[in-house]
Amino acid sequence: MSRNISVIGLGHVGLCTAVCLADRPNKVKAFEIDESKMKLIGEGVSPFYEPQLEMLLRKTIREGNLQVISGIEKAILGSDISFVTVGTPILPDGKLDTSFIRACGEQIGKALQKKESFHLIVVKSTVVPGSTERVVKPILERHSGKKAGTDFGLVFNPEFLREGSAIHDILHPSRIIIGEYDEHSGETLETFYEEFHRERIQVLRTNLATAEMIKYASNALLATKISFINEMANICERLSERVDVVEVAQAIGMDPRIGPHFLQAGLGWGGSCFPKDITALITFSEKMGYNPRILEAVVLVNLEQTKRAVDIVKEEMGNLKGKKISILGLSFKPNTDDVRNAPSLRIIERLIHEGAEVCVYDPAALNNTRRVFGTKIKYFPSLAECIDNADSCILVTEWEEFKKLSPEDYIRSMRNPFLFDGRRIYKADEFSARIKFLAVGLSKMRSKT
Ligand code: UDX
Repeated sequence: MSRNISVIGLGHVGLCTAVCLADRPNKVKAFEIDESKMKLIGEGVSPFYEPQLEMLLRKTIREGNLQVISGIEKAILGSDISFVTVGTPILPDGKLDTSFIRACGEQIGKALQKKESFHLIVVKSTVVPGSTERVVKPILERHSGKKAGTDFGLVFNPEFLREGSAIHDILHPSRIIIGEYDEHSGETLETFYEEFHRERIQVLRTNLATAEMIKYASNALLATKISFINEMANICERLSERVDVVEVAQAIGMDPRIGPHFLQAGLGWGGSCFPKDITALITFSEKMGYNPRILEAVVLVNLEQTKRAVDIVKEEMGNLKGKKISILGLSFKPNTDDVRNAPSLRIIERLIHEGAEVCVYDPAALNNTRRVFGTKIKYFPSLAECIDNADSCILVTEWEEFKKLSPEDYIRSMRNPFLFDGRRIYKADEFSARIKFLAVGLSKMRSKT
């Protein structure tokens, strides 16, 4: 059954949600406050890189199922369900900036005043527990003159999509969490998802604040797993016996109580979600008088992990002044051009500070990195040009393209073949037999065999 839906806020979550909804095929009206972004999207161009997104955007616009609309009122009046996916960035003091969601709540409220039929508001923007009920609901009620749970519906429905596989994650979610203000609202969204998904999906219905907390707890635990395995990697690196964190992770992951996922040691986590959400959760807890020690350690280990990459290169090469260091991979993970809080940025900053000549390459994120560092570093359009004559290479992001390289590719190009594998994509024995090779979580003993 085709439904009339609106999506408000076309960032990563909003735009990917809008195209998936429109492709199934619902009639979707999408609104974005940034006019230049809205214009691009209307022309079928995605403002950011995400596999499959642009193809689906063009298709759904062409088929008439996705319409970019220039006002929240039109979006609300032309739909029965609205997904609110506006940004909730973090303020310098660690609190969430709810100004966008409050402003949009006001507009939605005013539009609801003119609606006769039942309208369901689905908040997807990440907000700290209690916000949908204490911040969003009063604004909607005040500006609509209507009552939540009677005249309009209200749910909080967190999104767990990963950048780089967003479309897949929306179409095949591991679970759907519906935080409901009232039973009818929850039921309406559950029925909608039952129709939308072509497979059986686990749905868990809770109250609003529990669903808000689930989103934070989920990201916090994933980041904890990564910082944990990175800590194990740091211990492995210091052992004089042959120990490799990759083997350790594989073995502990076989225990169903632990699970194999999110145990890849590397140079730390970045992106738009983990850093923001964990900082917000720490600040929120502290405000309530609780000091979340595990979360603080998770953040600290993550920052140290990035610093370590430069420490290791320095230990091997001595003074970095004037040395040509090539950075392979800039985005915070593969298959995205997103460099927000990417480990690469912190590594580059330190290398600049050390006086190194920093050369970078990434299949998708060169332009976004240029916006951060301008002329302070050198950008190369290909991997081969980037590593040519380099004194050392730091592999920061595990793009497929890098996995294909052999030790010979590095030997042929580099002045002084020293490679630090920050994401464990290379076979340690093969590489360390041919070039100077160190890697996260690999004891030096092993790398020198
Ligand atoms: C994350 C959550 O996975 C998603 O559910 C939520 O909705 C948004 O935040 P995303 O930021 O897109 O998604 O990326 P994700 O794949 O989770 O990776 C986050 C970071 O952790 C990346 O920097 C990645 O390189 C790093 N990572 C991930 C590791 O270092 N090791 C791992 O084992 C997994």
